[in-house]
Amino acid sequence: MNQPDFDALYADHLATMKRRADEALSRSGFDHLVVPSGTQHYQVFDDRDYPYAVNPQFKAWLPLTRVPYSWLVYTPDTSRPGQRPKVIFYQPFDYWHVVPDAPSGWWVEHFDIHIIRKPEEALALLPKPAARCAVLGEPQSTLGDYAPNNPAAAVDYLEYQRSYKTPYEIALMREAQHLAVRGHRAAEAAFREGKSEFAIHMAYCGAVGQDLGELPYNNIVALNEHGAVLHYTELGRSAPAPVRSFLIDAGASFHGYASDITRTYATDKSGEFQAMIDAVDAAQIKMGEGVRAGVDYKQLHVDSHLTLMGILKDFGVIKVSPEAALETGVSAAFFPHGLGHPIGLQVHDVAGFAESDRGGKIPRPPGHPYLRMTRVLEPGMVVTIEPGLYFIDMLLDEVKKNGRADSVDWGRVDAFRPYGGIRIEDEVMCTAGDAVNLTRPAFAAAA
Ligand code: GLY
Ligand code: MN
Ligand code: MN
Repeated sequence: MNQPDFDALYADHLATMKRRADEALSRSGFDHLVVPSGTQHYQVFDDRDYPYAVNPQFKAWLPLTRVPYSWLVYTPDTSRPGQRPKVIFYQPFDYWHVVPDAPSGWWVEHFDIHIIRKPEEALALLPKPAARCAVLGEPQSTLGDYAPNNPAAAVDYLEYQRSYKTPYEIALMREAQHLAVRGHRAAEAAFREGKSEFAIHMAYCGAVGQDLGELPYNNIVALNEHGAVLHYTELGRSAPAPVRSFLIDAGASFHGYASDITRTYATDKSGEFQAMIDAVDAAQIKMGEGVRAGVDYKQLHVDSHLTLMGILKDFGVIKVSPEAALETGVSAAFFPHGLGHPIGLQVHDVAGFAESDRGGKIPRPPGHPYLRMTRVLEPGMVVTIEPGLYFIDMLLDEVKKNGRADSVDWGRVDAFRPYGGIRIEDEVMCTAGDAVNLTRPAFAAAA
């Protein structure tokens, strides 16, 4: 696979980041944008650190995910034309840990880079006075007078703009797809060999070359009934007998950008559960094609309920029309999460509810408490499309309690319950024209 020209793409991305920072500073009334990469966090009463998680505002500028105690400093060009933004790069003298490599890569030539050996050395390099700095980060990053103040006018603007991915970001996200797909293929093979959830997870991590410290979220690897637990992360150490079904929701990171992919498989490729998977898969492709500029994501979500209930009706699981199932809350028992969410630097990326770049929140439609995206789609946005159908006793009991037991054929529920559930999830980019599915081409390339 040929890698894209990240040098050229990055130069344009950086120009966009500077323009956005200029506007964020002008709106918030500060002179300098100061972004700490974040610090290590320690467990209470212990000297063990949690896995380091970089500040997303920092990795938006730089493909650096493993340099805590570092800083990005940007001052608009008008004050000193031609100046480069500053990177304060923490590279300690340390024989206990591997220290970050010296700065290298496509970003280096664009910055004025200062190496520091101790976190506090950053103080002398940060712009003065601290009161003129918009500092974006977590409280723990405070250094001297530089306490993150996260001005809302700047954060709202920058987070909103992050919805519109630059070509550089799309290229990185495509690489994150290819990495995850390697893992998905290895995981499917391990499932077909009868491996345990833990062993499948290990096969996934081995193929991707990432584990919990780097993966964008904990792998969901679920055999049989476990597929009905939406965020099942237990990783059983032995395989159930018999193994009937497999749901895997797992992604990968590439220079800080996430992929988030779900597939569902059946052991019996000619059985009824496989047929239901195929129906959800075909419907998911169609839903992805609905990602078009001007379309309200809330509407896609509601439409997906009707489509999924149409599938349950075809399979004899519900006895009422899709419209009636939606109206009475029966559909929410079988599809109890949102159709998807924005994705990028974070797996659940920011600004999914943003009313504008000046703040405000677009509420979820009533009765859909887990939807994570309520905006109208625009070119450059990337969202997941992840419809699912599950057989979850707790929610089906609610259907009975709510007097809707007649809507469901409980014998059919009994037939499907041992398979847990189905979810199919891809990333889809909105353009001025047709939707672009980022995930399916990666599977096709790997086949
Ligand atoms: N993997 C979490 C999600 O799909 O949102
Ligand atoms: Mn997702
Ligand atoms: Mn997922």
